[in-house]
Amino acid sequence: MIDRTDSSDQLSDALGHVKELVPEQVPIGMILGSGLGEIADSLEEATTIETRTIPGYPASTVSGHKGELVVGRLAGRQVAVIRGRIHMYEGHDVGVVTFPIRLLDAMGVRHLIVTNAAGGINPDFVPGTLMLINDHINLAFANPLVGPNDGLGPRFPDMSEPYDESWMRRVEALALAEGIRLVRGVYLWTSGPSYETRAEIRAFARLGADAVGMSTVPEVIQAVHRGMKVLGVSTITNPAAGLSAEPLSHDEVIEVGKSVRGRLVRLVRAIVADLDT
Ligand code: HPA
Repeated sequence: MIDRTDSSDQLSDALGHVKELVPEQVPIGMILGSGLGEIADSLEEATTIETRTIPGYPASTVSGHKGELVVGRLAGRQVAVIRGRIHMYEGHDVGVVTFPIRLLDAMGVRHLIVTNAAGGINPDFVPGTLMLINDHINLAFANPLVGPNDGLGPRFPDMSEPYDESWMRRVEALALAEGIRLVRGVYLWTSGPSYETRAEIRAFARLGADAVGMSTVPEVIQAVHRGMKVLGVSTITNPAAGLSAEPLSHDEVIEVGKSVRGRLVRLVRAIVADLDT
């Protein structure tokens, strides 16, 4: 088997700890965003590992983000779910933010599903909308691959299709069959933690963004580098700044995330059941 732990001792220590509890390869991984972590509760025969017990695993400090790696069965498939992602705005280096992706890769994950909460820029994407991320814009200008190449992917990875087109088509067909509205859009990453100004949102709209958020893009870059197939789903939790009269609040983001949970869990279950790994 290829050693996918790169040269960092921290990653091999982390993998060693996880392997004691979950010895088998896990082909499907997920990273869940604000208010969306409950998908992990629907796993069967689950093993829950608190991420603070994993050597080298960075601390997650945001409310709504729990800090667990849960491995179990969903729709008959073995999946690893990261509940509680790490953000750059918590003070972590962008390379640290993607530690969970390198861990999932080392555990055997080849299909990665990332979810997040995002502000809607496209006026048709009202709160509660589920959006397939079909491309992204990196406006945080940070990249987890900066530094020596770890040799587990190319130095200059292609990013012309970070989100797998054929997987997206399958997922659109599944959503249709489930009666779930699913739109496609471009996700723009800012570092946060402040929400955007009205002028920034007007500018982002002109750049071609449909939604804005503070996560996901570094993880996707890392996953693409490692050759994973990636699917991204945003829950639009609020109109972006200036598109509604109300100021933005994290509580609103969590509340709308929770109200969409049922639909998202149903969709994710169908997506996992459809994978033939
Ligand atoms: N902006 C940035 N991040 C977000 C938003 C937003 O409006 N909503 C949820 N995450």
